[in-house]
Amino acid sequence: MSANKPGDPTTLGRLYGRSVGKKLRDGQRRLVEELLPRIEIPAEGEVSAGHLFGAAHADRPLHFEIGFGGGEHLAARAEMLPDHRFIGAEPFLNGVAQALAHIETHGLDNIRLHHGDALDLLGRIPDGSLDMLYLLHPDPWPKARHAKRRMMSDGPLELFARKLAPGGELRFGTDHPVYLRHALMVMRRHAGRFDWLVDAPADWSTRPGDWPATRYEAKAIGAGHEVWYFRYRRR
Ligand SMILES: C[S@@+](CC[C@H](N)C(=O)[O-])C[C@H]1O[C@@H](n2cnc3c(N)ncnc32)[C@H](O)[C@@H]1O
Repeated sequence: MSANKPGDPTTLGRLYGRSVGKKLRDGQRRLVEELLPRIEIPAEGEVSAGHLFGAAHADRPLHFEIGFGGGEHLAARAEMLPDHRFIGAEPFLNGVAQALAHIETHGLDNIRLHHGDALDLLGRIPDGSLDMLYLLHPDPWPKARHAKRRMMSDGPLELFARKLAPGGELRFGTDHPVYLRHALMVMRRHAGRFDWLVDAPADWSTRPGDWPATRYEAKAIGAGHEVWYFRYRRR
């Protein structure tokens, strides 16, 4: 886990709680035992398209999804953009198993996974090398005293800005009004480095066509929540 100092806003272990939920089914266990080792990001070393996929892939655009949940968005984007390379991080093993099932079913060979903390991984990505970063429905930590645990915070935002290439994009989605206000405030503090890609209110109230729905989002909409979509371009 993390070697960061307590109180450091990027202290990684504090950002998530449980990492194993329901017992894995037999098929899921097989995927975790057989497929995961083949596509898991090594525990050490640089995290780049060239290192993970081979030198011939070094110049491919690299996308990173933080907290991919069940992996449906990650898999859909990877299928949409077969020439791009994708990495995803998720500490919840059941989610990793679900993502592996999508990867196997759709025969995707452009995804590598990290079963663990996204920020640990982000630190190993060369500066300025990410083309897209997805943060979709991060845990809201709704109580004010837990606000430091939110992924949309100054520490992680510093890292996002550093790792994205100029012109790279940060996509953020939430249905949580408290998180929304918090995120907009944080983004305002980092406005010097990001342009909010917005022309009209419909831009944040309508999911862009190339932004597949996530499972959490579908549940939120089913429960009658509004969902907000944000795209920021790294200057
Ligand atoms: C509310 S769920 C949303 C999952 C998915 N993005 C979706 O929209 O369906 C938040 C996810 O973030 C993951 N998460 C929390 N802290 C994380 C961290 N530090 N690094 C990576 N993932 C994290 C959780 O395990 C959980 O799967």
